[in-house]
Amino acid sequence: AQIEQADFVKSSTTTEQCPSDGLPEFAFVGRSNVGKSSLVNSIVRRKKLALTSKKPGKTQCINHFRINDSWYLVDLPGYGYAAAPKEVRTDWSKFTKDYFLNRSTLVSVFLLVDASIPAKKIDLEYASWLGQNQIPMTLVFTKCDKRKRKKNGVKRAEENVEDFQGLIREFFDATPPWIMTSSVTNQGRDEILLHMAQLRNY
Ligand code: GTP
Ligand code: MG
Repeated sequence: AQIEQADFVKSSTTTEQCPSDGLPEFAFVGRSNVGKSSLVNSIVRRKKLALTSKKPGKTQCINHFRINDSWYLVDLPGYGYAAAPKEVRTDWSKFTKDYFLNRSTLVSVFLLVDASIPAKKIDLEYASWLGQNQIPMTLVFTKCDKRKRKKNGVKRAEENVEDFQGLIREFFDATPPWIMTSSVTNQGRDEILLHMAQLRNY
């Protein structure tokens, strides 16, 4: 699963505006600042294809990136806290959920969860919403380069991940497929690409 070409195609704020060529796609969602845009860049091995920021609320549209002229990576705005007015965030939430419910070429949503902090209720609620609406989901734990060691009782990434998986079983019969990643070390990059290739071939 090699990437030969990656092009930014367009930014949309409605499902109708999204590309209409019928190519399969995978969308990244998760709390603002979880590392969605950074993961796009890690996957395509480009530093600035998707715009990133320290401040939550950078990505504000549905951004389509075409890979090898045959499928799309889709970067979305985050949910939760962001440096944007409440009405704007409500808007993001509306068009993102409309996109999930109506985008027929969407193969799977990749729900990104920060492995460097304890499980958050808002992430569990989001996972549960996706499950209730029968939207196929893969869990991606981000920032696994942080919290390598136990310091002052702060849990390691692996422990946070185990906790999250335990909690998510309340909503799902089985734990969804999951991948540990870091955009700093590129951990998980090949695994994500392989998983996407497998999903495209179903
Ligand atoms: P929004 O577009 O605002 O929703 O955020 P996002 O989810 O796209 O996050 P983004 O990729 O912009 O990254 C947010 C911050 O986290 C930036 O400062 C990144 O450098 C940092 N970051 C992202 N991924 C990683 C990672 O794997 N490890 C570490 N240590 N930092 C990361
Ligand atoms: Mg972003």
